[in-house]
Amino acid sequence: MEPALQRRVQRYGWDKASGFYESAWHLQLKPAQDAVIEMAAIGKREKVIDIACGTGLVSFRACDTVGPNGYVLGTDISDKMVEIASQTAREMHIENIQFERMDGEELIVEDGFFDVAICALGLMYMPDPIKALKEMKRVVRQRGRVAVAVWGQRANCGWADIFEIIDRKVSSEVCPLFFNLGNSNMLQRSMEAAGLGKVQLKRINTILQYNSDEEACKAAFEGGPVALAYHKFSDDIKNIVKEEYLSSIRIFKNGNGYSMPGEFVVAVGFHE
Ligand SMILES: C[S@@+](CC[C@H](N)C(=O)[O-])C[C@H]1O[C@@H](n2cnc3c(N)ncnc32)[C@H](O)[C@@H]1O
Repeated sequence: MEPALQRRVQRYGWDKASGFYESAWHLQLKPAQDAVIEMAAIGKREKVIDIACGTGLVSFRACDTVGPNGYVLGTDISDKMVEIASQTAREMHIENIQFERMDGEELIVEDGFFDVAICALGLMYMPDPIKALKEMKRVVRQRGRVAVAVWGQRANCGWADIFEIIDRKVSSEVCPLFFNLGNSNMLQRSMEAAGLGKVQLKRINTILQYNSDEEACKAAFEGGPVALAYHKFSDDIKNIVKEEYLSSIRIFKNGNGYSMPGEFVVAVGFHE
């Protein structure tokens, strides 16, 4: 898929997720977000950039940690995600956090401005992850940190068939490199290729919980990487892909719902 098209698919697909993103994904992604926060070792008064920040789940936690004399900038490619995060900041009267729409591969930020760059579960959606990692390195100061979480290996993520199911109906690859970064030490190698040093990596096994077929399908199709393609399907095709997806996850059935394995890979590297 052309990089510009991939960005478009992500931008508008995640716009569609913005309204229900936190209820569908907050708990499911929390183990990876916790690990990013922990590995980034954010300190008081630091400046943090959160790339692919979504509704700001990790940005607001970072802001709590840096305290009133620190600063957080959250960036995301989806206008709606940025709008929701900005609205939350206004409602909570937090003044040292800002959100701006930016492509992770082209941060409109000066060199070395931040102490820490974090990116929780956004890098797999970018057409050129190494370029995005180079941008993260560029915007942190010398000895600053870059902490990143991605989904793990395909074989360890129960919902993985979703991409092929959608790809068969649109004859293209919705997210061609999605599981690439989760393979063996690929994230570490990409961070090193971007010039980051002393990279440390950990894998986290998790279980995604869905209470019903509807809940599992909503999380998978209604917003996110495959949503733009899915929303263009006729009702018949929508039903077919939902059936195919449910049969691909049937082995994880637990009562009326699903307990589906997932894996995260989380790493930190330093601008040496
Ligand atoms: C799974 S959400 C993660 C959001 C947040 N980091 C969290 O942990 O809750 C993935 C986010 O990546 C963003 N994204 C996808 N491609 C992007 C790109 N090229 N540049 C910036 N953000 C991107 C999406 O808009 C979406 O908000």
